[in-house]
Amino acid sequence: MKYFKCKTKKWFFMAFPLLIVGCVQSNVISSINERSDSIDINQASKIWPKLKSDVKKDNEIELKVAGILAHMTLQQKVAQMIQPEIRDITIEDMRKYGFGSYLNGGGAFPNNNKHSTPTDWVLLAENMYQASIDDSLDGSNIPTMWGTDAVHGHNNVIGATIFPHNIGLGAANNPELIERIAEITATEVMVTGIDWVFAPTVAVVRDDRWGRTYEGYSEDPEIVRSYSASVVKGLQGQANKDFLGDKRVIGTIKHFIGDGGTQDGDDQGDNLAAEQELFTIHAQGYVGGLTAGAQSVMASFNSWQGEKVHGNKYLITDVLKNRMGFDGFVVGDWNGHGQVKGCIKENCAQAVNAGLDIFMVPTEAWKPLYENIIVQVKQGEIPLSRIDDAVTRILRVKMRAGLFEKPSPIDRILSGETVLIGAEPHREIARQAVRESLVLLKNKGHLLPLSAQQHILVAGDAADNIGKQSGGWSITWQGTGNKNTDFLNASSIYSGIEQRVNDAGGETTLSVDGSYTKKPDVAIVVFGEEPYAEGHGDIGNLEYQRGNKKDLALLNSLKAKGIPVVAVFISGRPLWVNAELNASDAFVAAWLPGSEGKAVADILLKAQSKHVQHDFTGKLSFSWPKSPTQIVNRFDDDYQPLFPYGYGLTYKDDDTLLDDLSEKSSVALKQNQITDIFLGKAIEPWEMLLFSQQHEVEIESSSQSLSGILYRTVDKQIQEDSFRLQTTGTASTGVKFVNTNGFREDLSAELESNAALTFTVKRDSDVNSPIYITMNCETIGDTQASCQASYNIQAQLAEAPLGEWHNVSISLRCFADKGVQLNQVAVPFELRTSGAINLSINHIRLVPSKTESLSLNCP
Ligand code: BGC
Ligand code: BGC
Repeated sequence: MKYFKCKTKKWFFMAFPLLIVGCVQSNVISSINERSDSIDINQASKIWPKLKSDVKKDNEIELKVAGILAHMTLQQKVAQMIQPEIRDITIEDMRKYGFGSYLNGGGAFPNNNKHSTPTDWVLLAENMYQASIDDSLDGSNIPTMWGTDAVHGHNNVIGATIFPHNIGLGAANNPELIERIAEITATEVMVTGIDWVFAPTVAVVRDDRWGRTYEGYSEDPEIVRSYSASVVKGLQGQANKDFLGDKRVIGTIKHFIGDGGTQDGDDQGDNLAAEQELFTIHAQGYVGGLTAGAQSVMASFNSWQGEKVHGNKYLITDVLKNRMGFDGFVVGDWNGHGQVKGCIKENCAQAVNAGLDIFMVPTEAWKPLYENIIVQVKQGEIPLSRIDDAVTRILRVKMRAGLFEKPSPIDRILSGETVLIGAEPHREIARQAVRESLVLLKNKGHLLPLSAQQHILVAGDAADNIGKQSGGWSITWQGTGNKNTDFLNASSIYSGIEQRVNDAGGETTLSVDGSYTKKPDVAIVVFGEEPYAEGHGDIGNLEYQRGNKKDLALLNSLKAKGIPVVAVFISGRPLWVNAELNASDAFVAAWLPGSEGKAVADILLKAQSKHVQHDFTGKLSFSWPKSPTQIVNRFDDDYQPLFPYGYGLTYKDDDTLLDDLSEKSSVALKQNQITDIFLGKAIEPWEMLLFSQQHEVEIESSSQSLSGILYRTVDKQIQEDSFRLQTTGTASTGVKFVNTNGFREDLSAELESNAALTFTVKRDSDVNSPIYITMNCETIGDTQASCQASYNIQAQLAEAPLGEWHNVSISLRCFADKGVQLNQVAVPFELRTSGAINLSINHIRLVPSKTESLSLNCP
């Protein structure tokens, strides 16, 4: 990966004239690659500026805070620092402990009901609030606050306006629009009684293989810096005006720091940037957002030069708080403190001492963490002054937000105004954002805009799929498992085209696979990435549909019939789509437009008299790669992307692209490489689970059992290189492999090399019932099993001689054909049966086929 080096970059001086001082020092400072604890604050001060927040310290508030603090018990103080999740606490826990805040994680809803109404959200807010100010038990009477991931609108709530993800907003490059979007988000959040939003994400994304690329506005700090200020103002209001007034929420700049610059784009990975780069590239969103008065900063999961930020005192305390002058609070990310060296989620004095003020501690870990912090203060491991500092910051923000004076959630001004959720004026702004986010990459012979008075075929599996066009963080965490009807009053891309074409007297045919009875004049094909969030979206290279080019086949089939093709590409990042570009006459990067899919038609089609004619204005805020392995960013030395930063055609521009882009992938085929899943033990990143009905346990010893199943290790060639499963037929049981870090794996290279899921097996009993081998891109319980496929191997097994080892193989293509996305595999192997069997298994692996065309024999 290439990083920005100050000396060669003139743009830096233009973009940040005030910060030139930092740059002059860069040569000295970039030599501090191995940052040690001996770094002194003066050294830091040359890099990190003293920032002037628009929000000034108010003496009256400081006095009040000190007054409250003086009367708090240690328990009450520590409770302010604990942020549990709604699935893991009750109202009674809130009453007893008086937590300073709580959150709903991705896919967590009041009453565990995805279809909770805005009123249900307000009720939960009200009950939590009332419990928090009830000090009849040991808790304090300090109002709690609720934080939520409203990262593209109030995306957890059914019916909310869902804006394009940040990558699309970056292409729009319109700070005023972004401020308005944040203001609307604040409004919809306030309707549900929530006080605090975990946005904006100001990651400057340097490697698009990262699964959170779409949460970033740009690969370059310039847009990120100005947007961060706009979002903060839109959410919180402006200092000296309506700052944290009764229509505003607290904003959070995240994730501090360097989340977008981890090695290989690895989510939660290690950022190796020199300190100067950390500032110039990755900190610019903090410069913008903190100046605008952001009251909260979220620590990042990633490490900086090998050390997790959650435990990094230098970055959190010396740089952010002391040097940059941040006087709000630092909240941790989802059990992120548990990843600090020497910590677990239940215990981490290091993070308190590093300067973390609020611990986001979902799951049952909140209780031991709370108890441990109290003990550690009593034993002197954590100074009381550190606790007092944390609580002072939390109370300061609560005061600034008026939480002590505001009525309870149910009586707040916007609360329960359910007509504001997904209100038409909000959607109109979202439609504007969609229009401005679209980037035109190709327009051969000025094909666009299309006349609406013709017969238009609309194909592709994203054409009428609101979940797919919305991406991750849409109702559910991963954005999967949703139906169009879950998005109340939203519109698909197809519905907008249909409406406009009907109005104009033309005709549309919706056909996912592109088949038709009457030949159309033109086809619009809407296709792209399936939704994902966080590490689940990490990929090995940027090739689109590697090894499984279904959409290319669709484009080519239409092209072969002489139909002009407009490609609308849904994605969370630029991907290598040379072949798809060649197969299309026009190509639009549509990113993840959200709930207002119909706005895409405003740009693709010629306006009828009653409509304004819009043109493309979006420009790439990310460079577009010319090969699957090109990791390229603006201002890199040797900058030769396919489409540079800032690229984007308008209707009148002549398109210079021919249909002859190289389609040769730069990724080596995994010809002879076997990928092991089980070889004597589960191979990294997989771990093995035994399950029976809803119960799952990790395999930790050589013999384990659950209801209806006994697992034990057995020997094939060497000791314990295999395992035996004996089932009684009384439950649905088996084994499965899941990713230890919870993420999905990209197996598309294996798919492309025609690999087969192969395992060596021996039966020691008759096989009288079905035995299913399943591959899945969801972990059980996450969502509906929409991308899993199972094959029954009963027949193969029954034929094999008793007591002898043999191989069973199922081509990966069999799984792909049944809907498993091989670039996002959560469970590569599951064996399940409800029958009584005695089976031994050895070596589970993916074996590439050397033959070009594999004859497909799916069981
Ligand atoms: C994400 C954060 C988010 C938090 C709470 C984490 O997994 O990294 O961005 O705010 O969850 O949902
Ligand atoms: C998931 C977490 C994730 C979080 C983000 C939860 O539902 O289980 O792993 O970090 O959502 O909010």
